[in-house]
Amino acid sequence: MINPEQFRFFAEMVKEHSGIALVKGKEYLLESRLNELAKILGLKDIDALYKKAKFQMTPRLKEQIIEAMTTNETYFFRDQHPFDALRKHIIPEMIERNAAKKSLKFWSAACSTGQEPYSISMIINEHFPALANWQVSITATDISKQAISKGMAGRFTQVEVNRGLPITLLIKYFKQQGAFWVVNEKLKRPMRFKQMNLMGPFIGINGMDIVLCRYVLIYFDHDTKKQILEKIVKVMNPGGYLLLGATETPVGLPPSMKRKSFGRSVCWQKDG
Ligand SMILES: C[S@@+](CC[C@H](N)C(=O)[O-])C[C@H]1O[C@@H](n2cnc3c(N)ncnc32)[C@H](O)[C@@H]1O
Repeated sequence: MINPEQFRFFAEMVKEHSGIALVKGKEYLLESRLNELAKILGLKDIDALYKKAKFQMTPRLKEQIIEAMTTNETYFFRDQHPFDALRKHIIPEMIERNAAKKSLKFWSAACSTGQEPYSISMIINEHFPALANWQVSITATDISKQAISKGMAGRFTQVEVNRGLPITLLIKYFKQQGAFWVVNEKLKRPMRFKQMNLMGPFIGINGMDIVLCRYVLIYFDHDTKKQILEKIVKVMNPGGYLLLGATETPVGLPPSMKRKSFGRSVCWQKDG
């Protein structure tokens, strides 16, 4: 059983490095995730992990603790309506706006294992053949190294492809390899996977036209959320769109971002 001092120690560390706020009442979550990590590391229990973290911390151990505390839940075309909004309204508008430069930049911020950015890639391939001779990039970032390498490999289990992915798209864009389904080169081409912490500097991220930052701000407190949203808006092009998760409130979004709704989908457009 985790004691209050251990909870405080791990919660502070996780908050400082990832922004994830583990408030009182989340002891069970911390305990079950860290017990699992202790087992993987060959340690007896959470108490042994606490002692190692307190007196023999290494960058790798810190990373493993943060990874253990991230929730990587995701699936293809999550919520469906934001992807309908992208297909019917947002991408067509951005194509008109960017016609002269023939470039379109997406960013899936906190992309987990890649289902979200691959869903975008499928929409582009299915519905916007004219973009074939544009510069299209889908930058996909996440704090979790494990999630990013899985996304980069584009290798999904049967259970994962059963979640949200229509069979027609599975057959068209994935190849079966043993027990796995692997995305084809066409889907992979615009992808730029990269490990990145939203709490740190956004290195190499700029001029974004469409940003999806979904189901990650829920883990942060008000001030962290506000800081991250301000930084995201700074790297967006004028007229660009931001999509958040369905349950997420845009607390701290600068006034340059205007609310827009397309059917059931609410998103935010930058002035300009
Ligand atoms: C619940 S998943 C959401 C994935 C995807 N956006 C979706 O909606 O399906 C949340 C992701 O946020 C990532 N995350 C948590 N804290 C982060 C941070 N500080 N910087 C970047 N990613 C973070 C986690 O690793 C996890 O993969």
